[in-house]
Amino acid sequence: MSNNSVYCCIEPACLKGRLAKGQEGLSCCNGHFIPFIPSTDVPVFNCDPKDSNEYTRLNAGEIHENSLRWLFSTFGDDEVSFRERLITRLFLKKGSRVLVTGAGAGNDLPFLIRALEGKGEIFAQDIAKEMILVGISRYKNDFPRSDVNVYFSVSDATTLPFLDDFFDSAYHFGGINLFSNIKRGIAEMNRVVKAEGRVVIGDEGLAPWLTRTEYGEMLVKNNPLYSCAPPLSAIPETARAVNLSWELGNCYYIIEFQVSKTPLSINIDIPHKGKRGGTLRTRYYGQLEGVDPNLRDRIYAEAERQGVSRVNFLESILRASLRGD
Ligand SMILES: C[S@@+](CC[C@H](N)C(=O)[O-])C[C@H]1O[C@@H](n2cnc3c(N)ncnc32)[C@H](O)[C@@H]1O
Repeated sequence: MSNNSVYCCIEPACLKGRLAKGQEGLSCCNGHFIPFIPSTDVPVFNCDPKDSNEYTRLNAGEIHENSLRWLFSTFGDDEVSFRERLITRLFLKKGSRVLVTGAGAGNDLPFLIRALEGKGEIFAQDIAKEMILVGISRYKNDFPRSDVNVYFSVSDATTLPFLDDFFDSAYHFGGINLFSNIKRGIAEMNRVVKAEGRVVIGDEGLAPWLTRTEYGEMLVKNNPLYSCAPPLSAIPETARAVNLSWELGNCYYIIEFQVSKTPLSINIDIPHKGKRGGTLRTRYYGQLEGVDPNLRDRIYAEAERQGVSRVNFLESILRASLRGD
């Protein structure tokens, strides 16, 4: 039987080499060792201590549960339908493999398990061991049994121990505002999801039309995280079908997109008709030094008199002035 694990080494020099499973942890061929939480097979990857947060307290699970009860009562929503609504956006199928970053105490697990229709794999990771331990205990004791395999790990969502294109979809709710590097967190989800897979991310952040209202100011005073803006500039350049919406009283942004590994397609050589002329390529890459503005205006006037675009006129006189062109 192979002792290969699905996890890979996060040390840069190891280039995501596969880790092998031993009794007490995982190891890579360069000698890096990732210990298991004692008496479990849950690996604890190296997390930067500066990234420890309020969730690394012993009673973090209980504090989180209290804040969830407050949240759903305050916004008059119910947790079951809310989580189901978000998970629907992952387009999971029977047999899918899904990643949950910042999974916390595993509140999404029963809904993910159901969405996989009895077959599939869920990888739940969190930077806080205390939260993952609560998740493991609830998974073992409280959640309905199924043949869906659930794997837990303690790791940093901004340095994921998985190969590229490993997942069908990736999901995150509630912690991305706290990530040390949000852009890297989203880039990592994008990296590990296959082309055409889905990424869904949500966290506190008022819709912009609410920020200056009493409603919004009350929430921000209560918790400054409500003033966070959706991290739109962190969405990968290759993302397709991007959608931004708000949930829970328009106080939580939800970003979803379809993963693509290819750049957006664009033809930069289509000429513009009209006065200015040129193409995306010439207008962007073809800038010349500044000239006397009076001369520029005379050139524009002459181009108009001749009925050609400014770019065509300029290119013709520049070419003519170059010997042999
Ligand atoms: C508000 S809780 C949300 C938990 C869960 N997703 C839920 O919906 O109930 C936020 C979680 O994000 C985790 N978190 C924060 N920064 C993280 C990081 N860099 N990597 C992984 N998890 C992180 C916290 O430890 C915490 O468990």
